[in-house]
Amino acid sequence: MGPRVDFYTSNPGKVRELQAVLAPMGYAVRWRKEELTEPQADTLEKVAAFKLLNVPDSVVPVIVEDSGLFIRSLGGFPGVYSAYVLRTLGLPGVLRLVRGPDRTAEFRAVVGYRAGGVTHLFSGRVRGSIAHRSRGKNGFGYDPIFIPEGHQRTTGEMTPEEKNRLSHRGIAARKLGRWLARHPASPD
Ligand code: IMP
Repeated sequence: MGPRVDFYTSNPGKVRELQAVLAPMGYAVRWRKEELTEPQADTLEKVAAFKLLNVPDSVVPVIVEDSGLFIRSLGGFPGVYSAYVLRTLGLPGVLRLVRGPDRTAEFRAVVGYRAGGVTHLFSGRVRGSIAHRSRGKNGFGYDPIFIPEGHQRTTGEMTPEEKNRLSHRGIAARKLGRWLARHPASPD
């Protein structure tokens, strides 16, 4: 296995997905099971950049990630508040909020990487829609209610490989992997 990168998150699902993308690209992702302080910020980029700044200097290279579900008819809500809304309303509560014909939504992820003085953000998004009811036990979080564009099944009904091929996180992680391959001598 090639170089190691430490990933700070409390979410094991995110770790599995990043490992599945980055291991074949030659990078070992090691789970640091800690949630870094999140600021009250209005974009995923600001949250990820803040988290990167708060990683102890001794831990490099390092990955952080921030993601969320943006529902168009709700003006992009829950967005940066996705984790809080899932904890408080749960999936049934979110489904009750989505009325009317427009059920379009997108998942977005920002993966942040820091090594030495170098920091980079990589983003990914996937368009789709909100299902009428929860379906599927795979993945985590909002997966049972999100149907990617061009598909009939929710990401909760997809295999991890299928989800990673199309997901916001898969896209962002592949961008990171390709960037790392082009910068093998990044200082750490
Ligand atoms: P945070 O990035 O830890 O602030 O939280 C993101 C929120 O969005 C959590 O509630 C996650 O469960 C949810 N979320 C992010 N990515 C996904 C995904 O790939 N599938 C389902 N839910 C997700």
